[in-house]
Amino acid sequence: MNKEIVCSGIRPTGNIHLGNYFGALRNFVKMQDEYNCFFFIADYHSLTTHPTPENLYNNARQILVQYLACGLDPEKSTIYLQSDLPETIELYLFLNMNAYLGELERVTSFKDKVRQQPNNVNAGLLTYPTLMAADILIHKAAKVPVGKDQEQHLEMTRTFANRFNNMYKKEVFPLPQAFNFGGELVKIPGLDGSGKMGKSEGEGNALFITDEPSVIRKKIMRAKTDSGPEQMNQTKPQEIENLFTLLKVVSTPDTVEYFDDLYNRCQIRYGDLKKQLAEDMVNFISPITERINAINSDEASLKRIMDMGKEKAHESARRTIEEVRHVIGYRN
Ligand code: TYM
Repeated sequence: MNKEIVCSGIRPTGNIHLGNYFGALRNFVKMQDEYNCFFFIADYHSLTTHPTPENLYNNARQILVQYLACGLDPEKSTIYLQSDLPETIELYLFLNMNAYLGELERVTSFKDKVRQQPNNVNAGLLTYPTLMAADILIHKAAKVPVGKDQEQHLEMTRTFANRFNNMYKKEVFPLPQAFNFGGELVKIPGLDGSGKMGKSEGEGNALFITDEPSVIRKKIMRAKTDSGPEQMNQTKPQEIENLFTLLKVVSTPDTVEYFDDLYNRCQIRYGDLKKQLAEDMVNFISPITERINAINSDEASLKRIMDMGKEKAHESARRTIEEVRHVIGYRN
């Protein structure tokens, strides 16, 4: 039986943080056995932030190393660089012909960027969802492991796929779904009390899989808290809920229950909660950091893995683009 196709990627704009890991990468690793997986490094997408050539190269290399350290297996999955697949760009062009300004301007992530960086509202940001759709549709993927913040982009991918199929009266593309093993898509909060952990949310917000134990401890001990609960069983304010969410992803259920109970009885000491969270976090992150260090120096095998991924991804992409060109009306 043919395995279902899975495709996803992460932008190389810095090291992988826990949001990337629990929203996306952990699912990549778990999906490798059951599905036909394509996982890429989204280096075209990272151009919207205008990286220097050195940063573009080094960050992409780091993401590859971090993918491998987290358990992606090049024998099981196709791991490749987005820019090694020019077919994606051709499909991006075709999809852009049927993507409308109004719908692109309404995308939440675009509106956020307009607010955050009014001096750099480039066309790449506007058409970010069509490039993402091209990444996914070039392999005809059915499932896309992503975090909650990507839900709307997946909806746009379905809109573009459906529009193309209807326009040419042919079911060229399946309609892909966002995927998480737990069912619900995940949103990992930041340490600064904000709703989301992110690379660009400021110093101290994110925990990276490259962070040294001392850095992890320092960031967690500085995490935002309030003055403590005043009523039994009261609802937790966001910054406290955030710490419990982080505790849930790295600590045992017993530990979570223990601190939850103390909170509900107004007996919690945030210092104790943070110490426990920091130790569990160090235990979670340190083995990954060690693997990163070991893989980092093996230049020859990194190159081999990229070459192998490029070839496999190319084979899949070429089939799709040939079909798409034919359906649109290009004849050799
Ligand atoms: P990027 O690099 O911003 O994020 C990569 C993945 O990490 C997830 N993520 C989170 N999940 C939960 N909680 C968080 N705080 C958190 N922060 C980030 C994101 O949801 C994402 O899954 N546009 C994509 C990259 C991309 C892509 C694609 C993904 C380009 N083309 C095609 C899937 C399919 C992105 O957001 O990258």
